Amino acid sequence: MTFFEVTILPDDVQIKVPAETTLKQVFNDNGINFEFPCGGLGVCKRCKVSIIKSDGQVQEVLACQYKVNEDVTVNLPQKELKHAILSEGIDRHVAVDALIKKVYFELPRPSLSDNRDDWRRLINQQGIKTSLKVLQGLPEKLRQSDFKVTTVIAGDTVVAVESYDTTDKLLGMAFDIGTTTIAGYLIDLKTGKELCRVSALNPQTRFGADVISRISFAAESPEGLDKLHGAVIGEINNLIQEAVRETQYSNLDIYAITFAGNTTMEHLLLKIPPTYLARAPYVPVVTEPIIVDAAELNIKINPDGKVFAFPNIAGFVGGDTVAAVLAAEMDKADKLKLLIDIGTNGEIVLGANGKYLACSTAAGPAFEGVQISCGMRGASGAIDHVSLGEEYKYTVIGQTTPIGIAGSGLVDTVAELIKVGIVDKKGRLLKPEEIENDLGKKYRDKITTINGILAFVIAEGASGRPIYVNQKDIREFQLAKGAIAAGIEVLLKEYGAQTQDIDEVYLAGAFGNYLNPESACTVGLIPKVLKSKIKGIGNAAGAGAKLAIISRNEYERAVALSQKINYIELSSHPSFNSTFFNKVGFE
Ligand code: FES
Repeated sequence: MTFFEVTILPDDVQIKVPAETTLKQVFNDNGINFEFPCGGLGVCKRCKVSIIKSDGQVQEVLACQYKVNEDVTVNLPQKELKHAILSEGIDRHVAVDALIKKVYFELPRPSLSDNRDDWRRLINQQGIKTSLKVLQGLPEKLRQSDFKVTTVIAGDTVVAVESYDTTDKLLGMAFDIGTTTIAGYLIDLKTGKELCRVSALNPQTRFGADVISRISFAAESPEGLDKLHGAVIGEINNLIQEAVRETQYSNLDIYAITFAGNTTMEHLLLKIPPTYLARAPYVPVVTEPIIVDAAELNIKINPDGKVFAFPNIAGFVGGDTVAAVLAAEMDKADKLKLLIDIGTNGEIVLGANGKYLACSTAAGPAFEGVQISCGMRGASGAIDHVSLGEEYKYTVIGQTTPIGIAGSGLVDTVAELIKVGIVDKKGRLLKPEEIENDLGKKYRDKITTINGILAFVIAEGASGRPIYVNQKDIREFQLAKGAIAAGIEVLLKEYGAQTQDIDEVYLAGAFGNYLNPESACTVGLIPKVLKSKIKGIGNAAGAGAKLAIISRNEYERAVALSQKINYIELSSHPSFNSTFFNKVGFE
């Protein structure tokens, strides 16, 4: 392959690129903020830059069209460049180059000497497509607005034509569709700025708490899928309405939506039957990215708007994981990274340098409070941290009277109970008289029998109700943490790497943000040697969905990444069961 050198002024940056690379690609790949108003279609002519060729000749070219086939120097205009900063635990700066664009045209009126057809008058460029609907409305639209119109462009297609200059109103929404919660972000696609965020419980929970029960519900009766699909679309429309009400925009200003969800959530959203996701060998109907008209899904944005659903990887590693991997930029990593997203399921991705492995464990529910006596999600009233030192301490989210214990509080409690010798290596909660550790003895009076099961009382909730962790909860916890720890080990083995090769551990999801790394290592959820390498990255799936809507380049990175991640099915993996049993205890 032949390479050429591109020198970018005024910063004097030198970049080697393969022949035939467009300047747009060079800018995007190297984080150079530059605006491509029509997305690089060559229509708007607003991406002009001056270049100096190797023979000294100066030329003005469209950065989106010019292909590098010799050494060139590019003089970037010193204009204010737009970029968005995302703060979701990871800060990312991306050039704004949204999935949907608007370009304003003031066109010459037709005359006998210029009698080009209306479409050619509007788009004087080959290869740009449109719909019959746009063409049907075009003659009146052009003439009623004195040939001053704004085109709305998705990829290489004009999806709508609006009268006069409407370029100041172009919105998009990014959604993270979780099994339990839905989070939406309203984004100004001109600036990349987040205008507001909205969230709600996923109303599908009334048909089943986890993905398996929802798949069964969808498969049981012909109306099942309709109900699940209708429930999530209804809530998405409510959230869109709430977001535009709050910001005083109209839902007609929204032209694009990105959705990142697990594979089941994406199937249900698109009303694709998820039946075979729950039956071995657990195959999805589709893993490729899906782009559909919002109107087709009855999503109440501009009826010409588009919906972009993230690509999935496998039955139990979905678009939300792809979005998280994108947000964490694992595709740019040259040292081994480990990403753990613990939500209602637990997905793990390991990789660097273009080679990635992923697996899924049914480990999440315990960390989200499901099947734990006093368990709850990390919301107001949840105990999130516990410490059994010389002084007894616990903290409650929202600093209110505790009503339950969050996943991070559960990890802390078990870790602390191990440290003070109240829980042994096998996970047995000791009776007060069995405790030998001096610090542990201090906490003897917190051990009691509740509903016939030995329990450790953490705090007193409203009306004196005890908030506790009992022996059954600890067993449940061991299974969940054992599955994650075994998943990590199997991935490492398949990758041919050692634990100490891991350079960084990203913990995605709310749980990851609250989790105390020390406790996570004490209980063996994450190998101890990685303690100083753990980094909470917040709602990375939501961050990835936002990146993709703000930048076509990020969307394309997500699609490319999804094709490079290989899925490992743990349930049939020859060493998963033995590894899992080894990981259930505490070291
Ligand atoms: S971005 Fe190059 S012409 Fe529009």
